[in-house]
Amino acid sequence: MDELGQARTAADLPTAGDEEVDRCALAGQRGRDGREDPSRATDPHEAFPAGFFDRQDPSDDADFYAPPRLVTHIDEGAIAAVGALYEELAVDGDVLDLMGSWISHFAAAPASLHVLGMNAAELEANPMATATTIHDLNAEPTLPFSDGSFDDAVCCVSIDYLVRPIDVIGDLARLLRPGGRFVCTFSNRCFPTKAIRGWLANTDNGRAALVAEYFRLAGGWNDAVVQRRTPLGHRGDPLFAVWAERA
Ligand SMILES: C[S@@+](CC[C@H](N)C(=O)[O-])C[C@H]1O[C@@H](n2cnc3c(N)ncnc32)[C@H](O)[C@@H]1O
Repeated sequence: MDELGQARTAADLPTAGDEEVDRCALAGQRGRDGREDPSRATDPHEAFPAGFFDRQDPSDDADFYAPPRLVTHIDEGAIAAVGALYEELAVDGDVLDLMGSWISHFAAAPASLHVLGMNAAELEANPMATATTIHDLNAEPTLPFSDGSFDDAVCCVSIDYLVRPIDVIGDLARLLRPGGRFVCTFSNRCFPTKAIRGWLANTDNGRAALVAEYFRLAGGWNDAVVQRRTPLGHRGDPLFAVWAERA
């Protein structure tokens, strides 16, 4: 499926500059045994409701992402909001763009940008990329980089496709140098057959809380900041951000 479907929307996240949103509406708070804290499980993914990380299309991601999609997945306003956030946070130095494509949304390119994704033609077309890696994070959540390789990492409109997001975010902490941030942005659109069911069933608030919970469960991170980066009542694609600094 090439067209992005639109998921449900809620409108009560804090906008940029507001306090961190409370961790409400988290679909994964209650495990199968009725306990409330998924971090009690050995594998934190196991404590989410059954099927939470399943997808309608569980087939090899390499097949789905084989055709290059040289398109934008969010509109101009949302893209500008991503670039403004990176600028505000001064994301620079050696940066990893996780689950990237031909566009990385920086207003100004960082000193070096390593883009990891699934499609070689998309990555080759990225004008900001100084290095690229093809790697399927659902087949292998451990990232193919050595400890302390990057100053910061970003991931735009893609976290919803990960079936083991807590493993990936946990491993990201290993890759970052002291003070490094992982900045995750998303909207309310996705490839629905490839997004996890727990994402599709959630509201905007719930998704933001979910990503913050991924950080908490992964360990190795300071408290995540959660913000709506487009104003309430914004007419285009909304943009949400969750980021944290390596502990
Ligand atoms: C909606 S696109 C977003 C691309 C880019 N981040 C952007 O902002 O335009 C989703 C991206 O996630 C990447 N992706 C999906 N599944 C992946 C997987 N299993 N491992 C690594 N990357 C994946 C794809 O390569 C694709 O480029």
